[in-house]
Amino acid sequence: MTAEERIEQVIAFAKKKRDIALVENPDYAARLKYRWQHTLRVVQYGKKLAKREGANAEIVIVACLLHDIAKLSDRSRNVEHGRIGAKMARPFLQELGYAETDVENICYAIASHVDGKADFEHPLTIEAQVVSDADKIDRLSSYRMMLALGKFADSEYESFIAKTKKRLSKSQKASKEWRVQTKSGKEVFQQQISAQVLFLERLIADHEMTLSMEF
Ligand SMILES: [Fe+2]
Ligand SMILES: [Fe+2]
Repeated sequence: MTAEERIEQVIAFAKKKRDIALVENPDYAARLKYRWQHTLRVVQYGKKLAKREGANAEIVIVACLLHDIAKLSDRSRNVEHGRIGAKMARPFLQELGYAETDVENICYAIASHVDGKADFEHPLTIEAQVVSDADKIDRLSSYRMMLALGKFADSEYESFIAKTKKRLSKSQKASKEWRVQTKSGKEVFQQQISAQVLFLERLIADHEMTLSMEF
């Protein structure tokens, strides 16, 4: 099997898990759709960083596709979702014919992407760092930010601005506290956060300017 064929199989596996979750909980359609779109964006960021960091591209792509498999299949939504996802992925990856070291590397990247911790022994790898960084970069995308802020009517503008201020301090906190590990990850993360902070600050400044206008 070629790398492309293995990746196709991984995509089919992830989609199948998502579709089963969708049948079980049709109310989660929007959430599962978002999770899959996020997954695909993480793959794009992962590919970009892998190239620049000299990481194994196939390992990164597969781990990115599976990093939120526990969320995508609605098995876990908390901090444990990486470790639960690694357990779900391992037998599938073995069946697909990956070498044991590759299986462990992919599973380590999945398990540790949230908080850097796995529930099995494995050295830190550049692939795991890239997957974790790619995930964090997408978590600050403008699209995610708009979803977090929500749609609003004119009458809800005050609460929208209050939400925006909260979101700004969250982004500023992330900028200081999130552990982005690779050199290129840091660079792209920094671009993301600068754009984000500027965007949110502008929204608030526009609002304040509107309030202070006197005729
Ligand atoms: Fe995640
Ligand atoms: Fe994620």
